[in-house]
Amino acid sequence: MRIVNFGSCNIDYVYSLHHIVVPGETETTENLEIFPGGKGLNQSIATARAGATAIHVGCIGNDGQLLIDTLKDSNVNTSYIRTVDGKSGHAIIQLASDGENSIFLYPGSNHKFTKEYIDKVMAELSTEDIIVLQNEINHIDYIVDKAYCKQMQIVLNPSPFNETISRIDLHKITHLILNEIEAKGFTGCNDVEESLEYFRKWYPELKIMLTLGGEGCVYMDDKQRIYHPIHKVSVVDTTAAGDTFTGYFVAGISERKEITDILEMASVAAGISVSRKGAAPSIPYKQEVLSVLEESRK
Ligand code: RIB
Repeated sequence: MRIVNFGSCNIDYVYSLHHIVVPGETETTENLEIFPGGKGLNQSIATARAGATAIHVGCIGNDGQLLIDTLKDSNVNTSYIRTVDGKSGHAIIQLASDGENSIFLYPGSNHKFTKEYIDKVMAELSTEDIIVLQNEINHIDYIVDKAYCKQMQIVLNPSPFNETISRIDLHKITHLILNEIEAKGFTGCNDVEESLEYFRKWYPELKIMLTLGGEGCVYMDDKQRIYHPIHKVSVVDTTAAGDTFTGYFVAGISERKEITDILEMASVAAGISVSRKGAAPSIPYKQEVLSVLEESRK
């Protein structure tokens, strides 16, 4: 099974500072670093580094060679990537000394998907391929409709959560990978159990992968509900932790692994990414994840 990620590619400008600025405040930053990132790119890289076959479908601008090179270096298939006029997407990231971040995005080329481009790629995909989507590109509702008509499995990470997400019919989604804030956006519930009950009632076939920050994560389908703890590390930079989890989770699904094994691998991979700076550069390869797992079992 191939994993086809229709997703964003961003150049991340990471400003290290003591704390995230509040309205009206000015703070001088300690450092500026530039990394490849974007939720789509990070997820494709995590998928490939987890050992699965990853294809990235995305639009980059004239300044985006770094993004293509980064994907290729991790063995992601880039043959469907289009270069369009104008700038690539970029993210301005404030990275606080406790590892927390705050991000704003300029979508740039990520919002230059056309229906013709999507149709052309879709025509070359097979029903066996798994589609992965986040909410940093345009036309995600169109991609969902096309993939659903082709009876493909669709994995949706509704991040960042905004009104675009409400245009998607969740009955068409196979796996929904989300955090507590996004779950509240769908269900209106503050409580995790209540959110899960809401999904169970209104979308009985939807498989839910809910990440719970420091509390770990919970997976739910029509037969089971499995909680899994986080892999504890010293926090350096939380950017791309969710994307790393998603990439490893999808890789596990494509290999038809047991859910408990998938959660174990994805949690360790996300933990390792948090212990390092940057988005894409922080994502570990499968061998490293396996070594850490082996060590933790001793
Ligand atoms: O999830 C992390 C990513 O979000 C960053 O790489 C940044 O580009 C934003 O898209």
